[in-house]
Parts: sequence; C-alpha cells; structure tokens
Amino acid sequence: MRIKELLNQRFSAAMQAAGIPDDCSPILALSGKPQFGDYQANGAMAAAKRLKTNPRELAEKILQQLDLDGIADKLEIAGPGFINIYLNVTFLANCVSADMLRNESESISKARPQTVVVDYSSPNLAKEMHVGHLRSTIIGDAVARSLEHQGHKVIRQNHMGDWGTQFGMLIAELEQHLSEGEQAELALNDLEVFYQQSKKHFDEDPDFADTARAYVVKLQSGDAHCRALWQKFIHVSVAHNLEIYRQLNVGLSADHIMPESAYNDDLQNVLDDLVTQGIATDSENAKVVFLDELADKNGNPSVMIVQKSGGGFLYATTDLAAMRHRVGQLHADRILYFIDARQALHMKQVFAAARKAGYAPDSVSLEHHPFGTMMGKDGKPFKTRSGGTVKLADLLVEAVERAEQLLRSKNTDLSDSEIKDIARKVGIGAIKYADLSKTRTNDYIFDWDAMLSFEGNTAPYLQYAYTRIRSIFRKAGLDADSFSAPISITEIQEKTLIMKLLQFDEIVDQVAAEGYPHILCNYVYELASAYMTFYEHCPVLKEGIEDAVQKSRLQLCKLTSETISKGLDLLGIEVMERM
Ligand code: ARG
Repeated sequence: MRIKELLNQRFSAAMQAAGIPDDCSPILALSGKPQFGDYQANGAMAAAKRLKTNPRELAEKILQQLDLDGIADKLEIAGPGFINIYLNVTFLANCVSADMLRNESESISKARPQTVVVDYSSPNLAKEMHVGHLRSTIIGDAVARSLEHQGHKVIRQNHMGDWGTQFGMLIAELEQHLSEGEQAELALNDLEVFYQQSKKHFDEDPDFADTARAYVVKLQSGDAHCRALWQKFIHVSVAHNLEIYRQLNVGLSADHIMPESAYNDDLQNVLDDLVTQGIATDSENAKVVFLDELADKNGNPSVMIVQKSGGGFLYATTDLAAMRHRVGQLHADRILYFIDARQALHMKQVFAAARKAGYAPDSVSLEHHPFGTMMGKDGKPFKTRSGGTVKLADLLVEAVERAEQLLRSKNTDLSDSEIKDIARKVGIGAIKYADLSKTRTNDYIFDWDAMLSFEGNTAPYLQYAYTRIRSIFRKAGLDADSFSAPISITEIQEKTLIMKLLQFDEIVDQVAAEGYPHILCNYVYELASAYMTFYEHCPVLKEGIEDAVQKSRLQLCKLTSETISKGLDLLGIEVMERM
C-alpha cells in the first residue's frame, strides 16, 4: 500500500460526498516543510474555482466528510485552502512494521500486470562495446529490474546490430586471417584492432574492397561459406559482450539476444504489406513511407526509406519487423526503447509508421527513452587521451583498479581477496551510479574522483552507509536478517525516517512508469541521509537505552539497510558486509 494512494482514496471519497465533481483531483503531495504537516491536499482551490465557491469553505466541507481515523492526528486548513495532514505515528509505525515495502501482494501492479518489452544495450557487433553503449545498457537494466519488482512480465530484447554492409568487409578480413592459419578467436582477440585493420584494407586495396562488397551480397543471399565466416565473427563478438554484461552485473544473457538478423526473413513481408496497404510508395527507385504526422513547418512530410534502390533493406525496416514481432508474438502492452537521443527522429518515424500500418495498436504504449552523451572533463564527448573511443572493457578494469587503490589507502584489516571483491563492487557500482543518478536526458561529465568519493550522492557513500548499519548488528551480536521487533516512535527523526522508508514503493512506481532511474538514486541517497540524522539523534547501542526503544531503533536500522540494498539492487549495484 502507498500512503499517498490511501490518502487519495479517502480524499476522493470525501470530495465526492461534498458534492465535488469526480474529475477534480485531491492533488496530494508531500509537504515541503514540517509546519505544513506530512502531506498536503491542494485540490480544494481548483475545485472551488470550478464550483465558483469559496475555497476555504469548500475545504471545510471536505474535512467534514473526510475519514482519516487512525491515519491522521490533525488536519488543518491553511492559506487559501490547503489542507495540511499530520499523520499518526502509530499508523506509520504499523505501516512500516507490516513491511509493506517488500510486500509483493500489496503491489498495485499485481492487479494489472503488463507485458513490457525493454529494448536496451543493443550494441553493434562489428566493433567492440565502447562507452557509448554504457548508458543504454545500465539505464535500461535498472528500469527492467524496477518493472520486474513491481510484478510485470519483462521481456528483454537485445536488438544487436549483427547485419549490414560492414560485415562484408569483416568476413573478408577474417577469411584472410584464417587462410593464413590463424584461429578465429585469436584474430578477433581485439575487435577494435580487427575492425581498423579491415577498414584500412578496404580503403587501400581495391581487390579486397571488391571481395568485401561481393561478400555482402553473398551473405544476404545465404551463401554457406560467407554465413559460416559471419557466424564465427558474431560468436566471438557476442561472447565479448556477454562478458561485459557479467562484469557490469547487468541482467542480459544469451537468451535476450534478438539481433537484427533474426528479422531478415520477415523484411520482404513487411515491405509487401506496407506496399499493399499503400503506406510505402516508390520514390526514385526506392520504397519510402511519407509521414504527414511528422511534417515540417512547411508541411513537407517526413520521409522514411524502407528499401534502398538496390533492393537492400534498412535499419528502419528491421525496426518495423521487430515491432510487429513484439506486439504480435510477444504480446507487449508497452515497448520501451533505451536509445541515444540522436536517434529520436528514427524512433518517431518507426512509431508513426507502425501505428499507420497497424503493427502497434493505440493500446500498446511505444516509448523512446532517450539519453544524452557521456562527456569528458573537457566538456567534449568522452575519449581516450589520444582521442580514440574508450572501450568499455578497459573502462571497467580501470574502475576496479581505482577502487582497489582507494580501499587499500583507507583500510588495512581486510584480506586480499576481500579487498578484490569489494573493489569490484565499489568500482563497478561507482561507474553505474554516477550515470544512473544523472537525469538521463542530459549529457553528463564522467569524473573518476567524484564518482569514487565516499561523500555525497555516490555509490561508495551508499554502500558504506549499508555496511555501517550491518556493523551495528555485528557489534550487538545480533543476526540482522532474522531480527524483528515492534516499532514505536518517540523522536521526530524516527518519524522522518519512517516516512522516507514508506515512500519506496511510490518511487519504484515512478521509475517504472517514467523510466528515470535517477529518481530512485535520489531516493536512496535521501534515505541514507535521513538515516544518518536519525542515527546522530537517536542512540541505538548506547548504555542505558530502554530495551523496547533499542529494539525499535534496531528494527528501523534493519529496514533502512534492507531498503538501501533493495534500492541499489534495482539499480544493478551490489552491497557488501564491510568495506
Ligand atoms: N544497434 C543500434 C546502435 O548501436 C541500437 C539499436 C537500438 N534498438 C533498436 N530497436 N533500434 O545504434
């Protein structure tokens, strides 16, 4: 149960009883300041405007009808007609004790579970994964986890780019290496180097370029030799990506790969269907879709090519086939695309064409969740010192190394293997959190020192907050996992902490609905801060604390640690017992 939802229900009923039309909302919000109570209902003003009556009098009428017995201690009308709600501490203590945070059966989405297809990561296999793929991979994963937590059926689709003209060049290069007796794994040991090599070859050697072009055609027409070479290449590239996912603690496996080539056999069908429906038409020997719904300000329709003049299909054609599959076969209610903001027009065109062609009925929600670019400290897109693209694999190694140095500089009593394990969680967590905690639509600056700091809104700070709570239980000789005690509130800091704990579900709802993981990051950070304030004012293990009070506080510690760890888990970040 969400407190806000409960208040909403009660207020809506009261407003109805007070003769206010149904479509007037109570407009509930957390109060900004303690002197305005815990929550505020601000809907009386708008309703009074509608009914042309005095807002304070209307608020008074709502209060006469309102039943918040046992939920609120005090209700007051303030200013022009705000209703301030002061929640009852016993009610709050009971809510949090009932452990509603993690009570799946209370989750609203259980009642209306959806099938949600999440298209994320989706790197091109011609090259090694680089930092440009990081954002889609981790943001998409955090949202997928949040949706799953809510009880939705999540279908991850890794729309890997394993098809297209580049592969002619790559397999021609591979063929040459193999003919010289080299093993495919060895030749492809560094995909980036391999790509550069074959590109150089292609640019400088006309014979090679001819072979490469011929191989594109052969590959597309199903030539066995070219296919086998291509398979070898894809196999190595996919293995590399799966290893990155494992290191990143991202929930993508081989089962989620649904690459572009999987739609090859359907592309002609899609085209024929678009032509039959009169949606695709001839234009300069190509087949194109004119989209009036995306016309520019002069009324010229937006143009999307679905077949090139030579007969080749395009990125857009594949996306339309994928859309049909996701709606028709996977029965998606929502399809989420985590793709760079620079592909916004492409997504708009695909969505508009899919609606037009009936591949996605209006009941299916199509959502492009774009994100900005990762920048270096110089304010330009993040590059290596020599200006090359930063390989994701190298970045992750560096993160773990830096975390290890940091831990060694702080700590002495951890064993070597403990330090290694913690460094991995801290380093990877830091990279992920630094990205996830920024509003995804903005560009952000990649900064090692900031992300690895133990202070501020960082992964290490939150991981450390978690270990500190766990150490309280160790000190007390208690097992945190099996500990349980009734909660009673005596101090304001306890109430504030409980209010924060109780917001968890609402926050996850928001992440799942809007696809912005930074909302969850901010929440976990605020929770950790509320905990720190509580811990400073409310001694837990100090001598002379009454037993029941101590147990209640320990219970709050436990719930906080569980919520921090659950929140981080939804972000794909691991915690540890000590650091
Ligand atoms: N492979 C593409 C790229 O690296 C991203 C694919 C995203 N998904 C999609 N359905 N278009 O730019």
